[in-house]
Amino acid sequence: MVESTGQWAVDACDALTGPRCSDHPDYLFRPYLGPAHLNALDQVAAWMGEAGMTTRIDGAGNLIGRYGDGLKTLIIGSHIDSVRDAGNYDGPLGVMLGIAVCAALNAKGRKLPFAIEVYAFGDEEGSRFPAPMLCSRAVAGALTLAALEVADAQGVGLAQALDMNGLAMSRFLDARRDPAELLGYVEAHIEQGPVLEAEGLALGVVTAIAAQIRYAVRVTGVAGHAGTNAMRLRKDALAGAAEMMLAIERITGAGPSDLVGTVGRISAGPGAPNVVPGDVTFTIDLRAGTDAVLHPAEAAIVAELKAIAHRRGLGLALDKTHELPPSPCDEAFRAMLSRAVEAVGVTPREIVSGAGHDAMIFSPIIPSAMLFIRCKDGISHNPLESVEPADADLACRALLNFVDQLEANYA
Ligand code: GLV
Ligand code: MN
Ligand code: MN
Repeated sequence: MVESTGQWAVDACDALTGPRCSDHPDYLFRPYLGPAHLNALDQVAAWMGEAGMTTRIDGAGNLIGRYGDGLKTLIIGSHIDSVRDAGNYDGPLGVMLGIAVCAALNAKGRKLPFAIEVYAFGDEEGSRFPAPMLCSRAVAGALTLAALEVADAQGVGLAQALDMNGLAMSRFLDARRDPAELLGYVEAHIEQGPVLEAEGLALGVVTAIAAQIRYAVRVTGVAGHAGTNAMRLRKDALAGAAEMMLAIERITGAGPSDLVGTVGRISAGPGAPNVVPGDVTFTIDLRAGTDAVLHPAEAAIVAELKAIAHRRGLGLALDKTHELPPSPCDEAFRAMLSRAVEAVGVTPREIVSGAGHDAMIFSPIIPSAMLFIRCKDGISHNPLESVEPADADLACRALLNFVDQLEANYA
């Protein structure tokens, strides 16, 4: 590994771009089970091998690098898929830091009483199939086969996508790990917000991850001639959807600051300048730190959307595609991470994550914790994402300290 470990981790993320590792020619887009995802796995597996790890791909398409041996295993994980027009570090940086930890242990010939497995999860973002975190949920045993009956925007089902990549739906749930064999889960991730930068801190320790809900919404009206349909007689699905979006903004904006609502995707059909839109689909993503805030907001939004549809004579179908409760991080793991952050000279700032992470899936079954790394201007889900190699270096050293503490406490 070159210069500093942090520099290597940042460079490795940057290397996972370009035509081989992105499925879009103009920007980074690495959806689950696309060609770029599979190419990226080849590269990451090679780095894992150089770090002294053995590699395998499980039934869900997760790449796993294993370092050392033992009855129990610590998972260091994050995701390798991306949103559309992504930055380079959301997900991959956590994978690279896991590899960097194993490389550092390997360079010293360190044997631990437990194994470390670095997971590069295939699908955290839900940017292909309408079901985020499918791959970590498979590992945690938090999925049924019925939940896997999903298709992408082109109508390609998950079963077909698995098949096209030499995987099989019948093996998907084999990715499950027995929690009794797992010591815990730790994930390093860019903060994706501005708090650490504003406070001049390179690292932060996550206390909990916000609850999240997603909906797929369909609004149906009547398509018709844009020149002949009087305004008061129209059933314009897009105008109705626009009013619904403003209602979502108003309801979430009136709540506490942790309540956020986003319409991130919309399509209107038939999609011609001279046709009144008759069929609109859009997504809703709702988040809050507690269910006590999220659920009343969800109920208010559903009631308001129904009222708008009724008043405008539109059809409305609401399909809840995703729901995760708020996920507290493990107290003991958090305390160890805080000590690790302090040990590398950073005040251990505690922080709640508004973004979702694979750690949410593990926190109900094994001790789980997250280390946040400062990112420039708090920007994420955007190609302007930027991380200082020196901060990534501190993160690697903090993770190594965490592993040392785990070893010292290992019974
Ligand atoms: C993942 O980045 C999410 O929070 O949606
Ligand atoms: Mn993301
Ligand atoms: Mn992420």
